[in-house]
Amino acid sequence: MIGEKLLTDDVRRLAQGWLREWIPTTEEAGLSLGLPEWDQRLALWRVALVCDVAPSYPIGEVQVDAGGEICRAPAPTMVSERLRQLRQDLHPRRSGRRASIAFPPTPNKAILGDCRTVLAEFPTNSAQLVFTSPPYYNAKPDCAEYVDYPSYLEFLGEAFAACHDVLAEGRFLVVNVSPVLVRRTSRSTASKRLPIPFDLHHILDRIGFEFIDDIIWRKPEGAGWHLGRGRRFAADRQPLQYKPVTVTEYVLVYRKKTDRLIDWNLRNHPDPEAVGRSLILGAYDKTNVWDITPSNHRTHPAVFPDELVSRVVRYYSFEGDSVLDPFAGTGTVGRVAAAMGRRFLVIEKRADYFETMRRELGQPGFDFTVDFDDLQYFRSAEHDAEPI
Ligand SMILES: C[S@@+](CC[C@H](N)C(=O)[O-])C[C@H]1O[C@@H](n2cnc3c(N)ncnc32)[C@H](O)[C@@H]1O
Repeated sequence: MIGEKLLTDDVRRLAQGWLREWIPTTEEAGLSLGLPEWDQRLALWRVALVCDVAPSYPIGEVQVDAGGEICRAPAPTMVSERLRQLRQDLHPRRSGRRASIAFPPTPNKAILGDCRTVLAEFPTNSAQLVFTSPPYYNAKPDCAEYVDYPSYLEFLGEAFAACHDVLAEGRFLVVNVSPVLVRRTSRSTASKRLPIPFDLHHILDRIGFEFIDDIIWRKPEGAGWHLGRGRRFAADRQPLQYKPVTVTEYVLVYRKKTDRLIDWNLRNHPDPEAVGRSLILGAYDKTNVWDITPSNHRTHPAVFPDELVSRVVRYYSFEGDSVLDPFAGTGTVGRVAAAMGRRFLVIEKRADYFETMRRELGQPGFDFTVDFDDLQYFRSAEHDAEPI
């Protein structure tokens, strides 16, 4: 039989022969072959090499050409190195907290404090979605909290590791983040853009989050010009001086690493009726570009537009799930999530923003109640809010 006329069994036999010859420890290593697939474009058969601990992550591929010859296969040393990495990735952090499928029925909570300390008191499964926007490094000179960029990244690592510990298996972490402009200090120095999303990716990957999607939040025409970027180029049009006005932000989607498919989360949800009620019917975003107008707030410089929160909550959670925002600001995530039949856990370390949150989440017209907790954490939060 030639090319695509080869039967999948023939291809599998050939690939198995290669495995036996080159990786004699196949069985102990838990290696096996996926289903052979004919690749029309390359005109060859492709057979994924998988490991029993994570059958959805191919760790290599054996290719069989149209004449029935093995034409490409991974180096055996590469296979053993990938196996080692994979086992390590699957157990990236041992928090010592016991995971269970049932979600504890926590009430809506708004807590004043540092999310790193507050979250240490919550068990795994306290959240079924994390949606947040971390502080923007030292974006405003009046609240420059971090000694330098590496210590800022270290802080993000600690906060997201705490989120990882409380998030349910296979559930989503969605982070709104963007490069931040550090203004020049004089005419003889240059401004810098810090690539926060790209640095954050490595941190999240190491903590144990799998990258899923990059959604682009596009703001309407005219947004971004007030920052002054691109003005010089608009005037003198010199090459190398080109700087586009930024009108987008990233909404990065990650999943808590697991070898289970998303189907597993759907089938094992403790309330199948809630799963049914959460179907995404009607219009939805078909692409990764979301056009949303930004929001302003009297007391907070960087609030989420309700529209952004409602899209994320709709696509990445079920009714009754608990949505965590560890950097809650005015509590937009809590307010919108509750209006959509979800529960929430929101944490903010500044006492002034927490007071705004208390006003906004505690309004009499809402049909949800909130447990505000500002006593236990008040001292440290008050101290953090003080100017140096
Ligand atoms: C970008 S804002 C989020 C605004 C929010 N999305 C809203 O709609 O109001 C980030 C917030 O994180 C808070 N924050 C910074 N460090 C924190 C920490 N360690 N724990 C909790 N909150 C923190 C800041 O005070 C700020 O309000």
